[in-house]
Amino acid sequence: MTRTVRCKINGRETETAVDVRASLTDMLRNEYRLTSVKKGCEVGECGACNVIINGECFNSCIYLAVWADGKEITTTEGLISASGELSALQQAFIDEGAVQCGFCTPGFLMSAQEIIDSGKEYSDEELRRLLSGHLCRCTGYENIFRAVRKVTKAAHKAG
Ligand code: FES
Ligand code: FES
Repeated sequence: MTRTVRCKINGRETETAVDVRASLTDMLRNEYRLTSVKKGCEVGECGACNVIINGECFNSCIYLAVWADGKEITTTEGLISASGELSALQQAFIDEGAVQCGFCTPGFLMSAQEIIDSGKEYSDEELRRLLSGHLCRCTGYENIFRAVRKVTKAAHKAG
């Protein structure tokens, strides 16, 4: 059985018919070729598939595609500016050496973006806890933490 899902993805209105059992990960990857959304554990434990839905980060592997109807979704592709420039967050990941194989990176970026968008100032300990839902098999945690800390600090100075 299929159902039509209309939603805004990375600022663009979309519409497609999906299997009612399909995950949002599958819809984003298969219908829209948004391959930054990674398939890791597929049971909500590693964070590789994280996307932002109406301002909140979710594991898209355990989120049904049909639930996305009427919602606004952002993936890592949506962080890039219209002119093709990387966001400050993406650049910080590069500058701090926070990307190794890169498999976990889009999920981390989405959680970090949610943190930045919250406008709240977090302690190092809180920030580590907020990022703790992600697994990085290359164990680049310290560099990832540094990249996110750098951008949250800069956002607060600017604000
Ligand atoms: S693939 Fe979704 S949490 Fe691991
Ligand atoms: S950079 Fe390889 S899994 Fe994190």
